[in-house]
Amino acid sequence: MGTENLKILYTKEVIHQRVADLADQISRDYPSGSVLLVGVLKGAVVFLADLIRALKIPATIDFVRLSSYGSSTTSSGKVEIIKDLEMPIAGKDVIIVEDIIDTGLTIKFLKEELTKRQPRSLRICTLLNKEFRRKVEITADYVGITMDKDYFVVGYGLDFSERYRYLSDIHYLEP
Ligand code: IMP
Ligand code: MG
Repeated sequence: MGTENLKILYTKEVIHQRVADLADQISRDYPSGSVLLVGVLKGAVVFLADLIRALKIPATIDFVRLSSYGSSTTSSGKVEIIKDLEMPIAGKDVIIVEDIIDTGLTIKFLKEELTKRQPRSLRICTLLNKEFRRKVEITADYVGITMDKDYFVVGYGLDFSERYRYLSDIHYLEP
C-alpha cells in the first residue's frame, strides 16, 4: 500500500487554465444562466468545485454516485446508481460533470438515465478524456484535456483505491 511511483502529468497551473477555458465556454453557451451541474461522486468533486467558481453564470449543484471500478483499475462494464440526485431535473439545463471518461460505459449509462427524466438540455463536461479507450460511442460536449497516452491518473479528485485525491497536480502511476 502506498508504494506507487507517481509522476506529474498535468500541473495545477495547466489544470487551472483549462478549467478557466471550460468555464468561459459554458458561460457563453448558457447566456440566460441557471445551469445545473451534476457531479459524479467522488472523483469530480474537486473539478466541480473549481468549475462552479470560474463560471460567470449562476449554477446549482447536485450529485450522483455510480458503482464503478471498486479498487481495481479496469472497468467491469456494469453500472448502477448508488446515490441518486436529490432534485428533479425536468425542464432544466443540465451538465454532467465528470473527472475522466475512459471506456465511456459510466457516462453513457448516466446520460441515458438522466435523459429519461426530460431535462431541457443535457450535456457532458469532463476534465480528462481518454477517447482512444472507448468501448461505447459517447462524446463529451466540453473536454478539459484530451489524453493521448493510456496512463492511469490520480490527483485533483482522481483516486487509486481511494488514495491521492488530495493532490493538486494530476499524476500518473508509473507502471
Ligand atoms: P469509464 O466508465 O470506463 O469511462 O470509467 C469512468 C470512471 O472510471 C471515471 O469516472 C473514474 O472514476 C474511473 N477512471 C477511469 N480512468 C481512470 C484513471 O486513469 N484514474 C482514476 N480513475 C479513473
Ligand atoms: Mg468517476
